[in-house]
Amino acid sequence: MTQFVMPPRKPVSERTAMSNYIEPRDIHALLALGPMAPVRNPYPLFRELRATQPVLALNPARSIAGSRRAVLVTRYQDVKAVLRDNETFSNDIVQRTMGVVMGPTVIGMDGKEHLQHRALITPSMTTRKITGGDFPREVRRIADGYVDTFIDAGRADLHEQFCYSFPLSVFVSLLEIDLGDVKEFHDHSKALCLVAMDPAKGFAASEWLLNFLQPIVQQKRRQPGSDLISVLVQSEVDGATLTDLEVVSFLRLLTLAGAETTNHTIGTAMVALLRDPELMAGVRADRTLVPKLVWEAMRWESPVSTVLREASCDTRIGDVRIEKGTEVICHIGSANRDEQQFDDPDTFDIDRADRDPIPFGFGRHYCAGSHLAKLEAEIGVNTLLDRLGNIRAIPGEEFSVVGFSFRGPDRIPVTFDRLT
Ligand code: HEM
Repeated sequence: MTQFVMPPRKPVSERTAMSNYIEPRDIHALLALGPMAPVRNPYPLFRELRATQPVLALNPARSIAGSRRAVLVTRYQDVKAVLRDNETFSNDIVQRTMGVVMGPTVIGMDGKEHLQHRALITPSMTTRKITGGDFPREVRRIADGYVDTFIDAGRADLHEQFCYSFPLSVFVSLLEIDLGDVKEFHDHSKALCLVAMDPAKGFAASEWLLNFLQPIVQQKRRQPGSDLISVLVQSEVDGATLTDLEVVSFLRLLTLAGAETTNHTIGTAMVALLRDPELMAGVRADRTLVPKLVWEAMRWESPVSTVLREASCDTRIGDVRIEKGTEVICHIGSANRDEQQFDDPDTFDIDRADRDPIPFGFGRHYCAGSHLAKLEAEIGVNTLLDRLGNIRAIPGEEFSVVGFSFRGPDRIPVTFDRLT
């Protein structure tokens, strides 16, 4: 059973009074800050790049994977073209970067190997447990458990006290494992994606997760149930099955994919509501608008803002020649703000004509957890609106959506009235 263990916290006012947000002046300064810097508004720089240098050659020191040649792709149509063409643009670069701590996973595979592996993991992501039955009620129960921990205080940091841990607790409930401290699990999974900045911490986290998950995988293999790990250990396609290491690696990927993404979507949706009281009132009164709110939040501030590919032969992106071996950083966040694709793209507008935003990626590597993510985000927002009335920002307490590769708010200090 998932428990709601919260870390000791300082009062919101002590933690959030000071702003450490960064406003980079040019794209090179922005890239120098690294993928997780608290960059508040990179969009003017992306707008300029889309207009002038849509496929920008980077100084190798600014590449994400340490490649000798790298480009940053910022236009919607170019990003989509790269993600569509998985023959020319390989995911092996993901394996060589994240794979060192994650192990062999579907996101770092190409061609037939990817198709076979994806077929093996898909049943775990489409199981009835996720798509129907009692699962939405379980997700709501978990969300309510978090709200119970802070509702009496009348104020909270919704990022830290709700968004940060709720999606991971949902994921843990799918594994049906006993996890005392969700935050400890989360911190280790987050350290995985920081391996380039702090290798020692990344490798230590990888080992911690291996030591924690491996015995559970072995036990589920001996005595399978109906949980996600049991589906994975029993999965078989044309005689191929997943090894224990492949299951553990996939679980490491999922903890990261599940924790560092939906978390940001719920937070961004709440930031959009807090900045627009009329929208807050409208969505509160008509909950059929929540799916639109969540979808627009994912376009406006794409939680996974960059995805990596590598050119496996000499090729072109738009008019620009690309040499074999070039690292291609596709900026999904910029693509989803492209004025050629979306009218008035910087405005948060839940009534906009859809025009196909790509927050879940595109092509063969399209997010395998998209329906789980949407379900969690919608239930998360609905729970906050059901339980907390008159949610409002605290004067003098800054908050913002931040980041380069992953984007979401790092704090959301609010006050509210208790409803239920
Ligand atoms: C708002 C939430 C989420 C966003 C924005 C998101 C975004 C993405 C993106 C952009 C990709 C494509 C990566 C690429 O092309 O290299 C991806 C892949 C993936 N995502 Fe998500 N994701 C989210 C939630 C989740 C959740 C909750 C899970 C599962 C627990 C998940 C599992 C995966 C997996 C397994 C892949 C790899 C698919 C493949 O390589 O074939 N994601 N996601």
